[in-house]
Amino acid sequence: MLVVNGLVKRFGGFTAVNNVSFKVEKGEILGLIGPNGSGKSTIFNMLSGTFPPTSGSIQFDGSEIAGLPPHRIINRGVGRTFQIPRPFRRLSIFENVALAGYYGQGGGSGGHSLAKANESAEKALAMVGLPTDRDASVDGLGAAGLKKLELAKAIATGPKLLLADESLGGLDEAEMDQAADMLRKIRDELGITIIWVEHIMGVLMRVVDRVMVLDHGEKISEGLPSVVSGDPRVVEVYLGTDADMTQAAAAEARR
Ligand SMILES: Nc1ncnc2c1ncn2[C@@H]1O[C@H](COP(=O)(O)OP(=O)(O)O)[C@@H](O)[C@H]1O
Ligand SMILES: [Mg+2]
Repeated sequence: MLVVNGLVKRFGGFTAVNNVSFKVEKGEILGLIGPNGSGKSTIFNMLSGTFPPTSGSIQFDGSEIAGLPPHRIINRGVGRTFQIPRPFRRLSIFENVALAGYYGQGGGSGGHSLAKANESAEKALAMVGLPTDRDASVDGLGAAGLKKLELAKAIATGPKLLLADESLGGLDEAEMDQAADMLRKIRDELGITIIWVEHIMGVLMRVVDRVMVLDHGEKISEGLPSVVSGDPRVVEVYLGTDADMTQAAAAEARR
């Protein structure tokens, strides 16, 4: 479904992503982990068209999408969530999601009608467990609610591939488990392929099919969670000497 080759992003003289290549198969959940600043969100920004790569190729469903603007990429079926949720505060939860459903599926240019956008919003909200009534306010949502809203907005755009950025940030442990189960449900029930970014390994290891590890903009490891969590390069570079954390990640991979 996705073939990324030799992806590079430089900001001035600083290389944030350095020659990264990977593939994503239809129907899989790929975990993308790495310490803060390792280039995870920068990869998402290139995949979703926020900015073009400095060089490299991104093939989605057989055609090149590198450098296309965000609205073209989303209309081809690549949806994303943002690490920091910024909903429209004056719109209701429902309106935020319906708006994403409308423009994300080509509304206003021959795509989704308003009625269809509303339908997408209802389904997406039900999927993540947020209220589907038209007036519920964004203001009542805590960290977990805002993450669900991000997911609902992305789902409403009708993606084949979902890029989920730090879905666990700011959540407590029970909420993290819930969020992980939700991503799996989105894959299982909606058939959406997922790349899931986190800076911690944690529950991610239980849900993903494969995991790829970045450090300083470079891919340092890739494979099954049970193998990657024991990879000496990952243990050394990413987890440092924190044996407890390594063991916890390995335990999650076995769950
Ligand atoms: N728009 C930008 N301009 C300049 N530097 C950036 C920009 N976006 C990201 N960076 C830098 O690139 C590196 C990777 O950032 P990012 O991809 O956000 O990391 P991660 O998501 O893995 O925490 C960081 O050093 C960050 O400061
Ligand atoms: Mg990030």
